[in-house]
Amino acid sequence: MKRLFLIAVPWFAFAFILTGVALAEDPEATFELPTGTMTLQAPQDAKYKATLSSVTFPHSLHFSYSCQECHHTWNGTAPIKSCGTSGCHENFWAPKPGQADVSENGAKSMVGAYHQACRDCHRNEADQQKAAGSKNIVTGPVACAGCHPDPHSDVVDSDETLSIPLGIITIEAPEGVEATRGSVGFPHGLHFQFACKDCHHDWDGESEVESCTSCHSETEPSGTRSVKNEENQMYYLAAYHNVCVTCHRDTAKKRRAAMSQGIDKAELPKAAPVNCKGCHSPS
Ligand code: HEC
Ligand code: HEC
Ligand code: HEC
Ligand code: HEC
Ligand code: HEC
Ligand code: HEC
Ligand code: HEC
Repeated sequence: MKRLFLIAVPWFAFAFILTGVALAEDPEATFELPTGTMTLQAPQDAKYKATLSSVTFPHSLHFSYSCQECHHTWNGTAPIKSCGTSGCHENFWAPKPGQADVSENGAKSMVGAYHQACRDCHRNEADQQKAAGSKNIVTGPVACAGCHPDPHSDVVDSDETLSIPLGIITIEAPEGVEATRGSVGFPHGLHFQFACKDCHHDWDGESEVESCTSCHSETEPSGTRSVKNEENQMYYLAAYHNVCVTCHRDTAKKRRAAMSQGIDKAELPKAAPVNCKGCHSPS
């Protein structure tokens, strides 16, 4: 899980997006996640002729971040809008002085938005990893030619996608376990404010997503019963509780800390259940 804590996202930066989000009620609802590489380029009908090569963007190399790190207006369930949607970064360039701004709400130009989002993150990552003493800096290009190569690379738009469930996934004890608690209804889509890899920590961003229990398949604890015992890492109950309950407790702690600093409850992300009945259905 080495990448898990690569970046520190301000904890309630996403609160505004999440208010009023309706949970996908349809348990069959899914969305198609593009997992391949896309080419970002100037609008082909622009009066402006691009001076540099278009930019190859490996989407799947970026799933150690929350989707909302980039799709910052996405609510986790609605279709994702392209950055250049009308009312968003619809100006390719910032208007020249005296020229009318065509974007309704004065959103940053597309070139400005991309340079800020892409290049600044690559630079910050390099700085942070250096400051943390890491020898192997894992980041994307910062120099112009890293993104705009010369000679120009080919336009690639692979159409590989993965179907991602948005609704409630029922998690049950594996076969052979005599369950003492009811199954757990897990609202997957409500958790897309976090990076996929916070939970699917072994996923490469492109292959099929394996279920936790395909690896964490032990149905009995080895040694002590404590889920914190390292020997129990492959015990399925430890895998789930260590991920689910740990983050929920952490969320509760952060809410309490924020409220004690006088931040209004209504401005904070919603509470996550920490008691048994909040997750386990009555059996
Ligand atoms: C590092 C930034 C970044 C991250 C993180 C990211 N994306 Fe994207 N995504 C993009 C860009 C850039 C595009 C191309 C957008 C465009 O053409 O306007 C895109 C395109 C898409 C599209 C296609 C949209 C369309 O116009 O058809 C979908 C769907 C999508 N992303 C979903 C996701 C999901 C879900 C996640 C989280 C797993 C995610 N993305 C994470 C930057 C990102
Ligand atoms: C929030 C941080 C972040 C944002 C935003 C971001 N990147 Fe990255 N990018 C990374 C990191 C970290 C890597 C290295 C990932 C890896 O190798 O596993 C990377 C890798 C890449 C690579 C691959 C480099 C290589 O050596 O293969 C390219 C190309 C790239 N990014 C382009 C972009 C573009 C274009 C955008 C904007 C649409 C963008 N990135 C937005 C963090 C970011
Ligand atoms: C992390 C990736 C990244 C880096 C680094 C980067 N750009 Fe870009 N740039 C983009 C993206 C994405 C676009 C929008 C898509 C496009 O037009 O190709 C863009 C668009 C542009 C455009 C408008 C399109 C054109 O070709 O005329 C110019 C000019 C440009 N960049 C110049 C630069 C210069 C100069 C540098 C270095 C100082 C630089 N960029 C560094 C990602 C990057
Ligand atoms: C944040 C959600 C969450 C909370 C809170 C939670 N659990 Fe679980 N628990 C799970 C998941 C997910 C599983 C794996 C699916 C399953 O076995 O039902 C699980 C499995 C179990 C199992 C093994 C299966 C069984 O039924 O015997 C036991 C025992 C268990 N939990 C007890 C508890 C107890 C006791 C509490 C309260 C102190 C609790 N859990 C709170 C999510 C949670
Ligand atoms: C909070 C933890 C968490 C987050 C965040 C999360 N998932 Fe999941 N996901 C799960 C769990 C748990 C399951 C149920 C399967 C299991 O128990 O192994 C699941 C199931 C899936 C499945 C179905 C797998 C199958 O067995 O058919 C896919 C695909 C998937 N997730 C992709 C994603 C993607 C893509 C993201 C990021 C947008 C994401 N997940 C975010 C925990 C999470
Ligand atoms: C491809 C196999 C594989 C899959 C799939 C997988 N894990 Fe793991 N997991 C491992 C291995 C191996 C370790 C121990 C080494 C490590 O930390 O990577 C581990 C470690 C863990 C740990 C302990 C990490 C720590 O820091 O102590 C937790 C918790 C965990 N996994 C939860 C999950 C959950 C929840 C899922 C499903 C959303 C999942 N894992 C999916 C193989 C897997
Ligand atoms: C990284 C943090 C994190 C992880 C990991 C996580 N959760 Fe959550 N969970 C949250 C937060 C935050 C909320 C509140 C979200 C909201 O309502 O907007 C939540 C909400 C929930 C809810 C309540 C939904 C509702 O309708 O109120 C359930 C049930 C739940 N999570 C189950 C799980 C289970 C089961 C797992 C493990 C497979 C899990 N969570 C893993 C953070 C997390």
